[in-house]
Amino acid sequence: MARVALVTGGVSGIGAATCKALQAAGFAVAASFVADEAAARGFREQTGIATYRWDVADFDACQQGVAEVVRTLGPVDVLVNNAGITRDASLHKMTREQWRAVIEVNLGGCFNMCHAVIGSMRERGYGRIVNLSSVNGLAGQFGQANYAATKAGIIGFTKSLALESAAHGITVNAVAPGYTDTPMVAAVRPEVRERIVAGIPLRRLGRPEEVAAAILYLVSDAAAYITGETLSINGGQYLR
Ligand SMILES: NC(=O)c1ccc[n+]([C@@H]2O[C@H](COP(=O)([O-])OP(=O)(O)OC[C@H]3O[C@@H](n4cnc5c(N)ncnc54)[C@H](O)[C@@H]3O)[C@@H](O)[C@H]2O)c1
Repeated sequence: MARVALVTGGVSGIGAATCKALQAAGFAVAASFVADEAAARGFREQTGIATYRWDVADFDACQQGVAEVVRTLGPVDVLVNNAGITRDASLHKMTREQWRAVIEVNLGGCFNMCHAVIGSMRERGYGRIVNLSSVNGLAGQFGQANYAATKAGIIGFTKSLALESAAHGITVNAVAPGYTDTPMVAAVRPEVRERIVAGIPLRRLGRPEEVAAAILYLVSDAAAYITGETLSINGGQYLR
């Protein structure tokens, strides 16, 4: 029987590339999304990957969404907490709503989704969880106190859950992409984008497939002895 992998925010960007990589590796894949119904339909038609709609910031919706994935595909063996948003502003201009939204989706979503799968993984003695951090969680970023706080928080969350889960055959790791060519980065102004690329030793943005390959490795049997780690995929950006 194929292992079941669930990727939140799985119909675009890094999530979509991860779903395709998991599918090619033989997993039965579930992609969740929140609003982009047309994108989800296109993705489903193009790939044959099952899509499910719920908001990761909503605890009850996560429980119900996972129950639906279990009903249709089977118990979740692999969870990739990929859903994430930005609401950029310098702190003195940042509204409580910008702060709250990013915390609830990026960090709250990670808690809600792990909570929804961890009991079953513990019972079955197997699980792989990969959480999406970011170079900006490691290095900080102007205008992203909210986003960087969530992405740094995810690293502490990952280490703690790894410690709690190791005895149950579950590994929990994070990946920290640098600037990757997805809709999230397409929203950055061209002049800012040029400045970013100039600061990357490999002189280009990352590709979603390159992040997906790292995630695929961390959920594979070859990575069974790796847990609590954060793997950077950033073209050398955080070396200096
Ligand atoms: N693109 C980058 O440069 C970059 C760099 C570092 C980290 N990341 C992280 O990688 C992840 C994917 O980023 P991306 O660039 O592919 O972004 P993206 O905007 O292309 O995709 C994000 C996905 O998350 C989904 N999503 C957003 N809010 C949601 C919610 N409340 N419930 C369910 N789904 C929700 C969106 O529908 C979308 O499908 C994010 O966590 C992001 O923070 C991205």
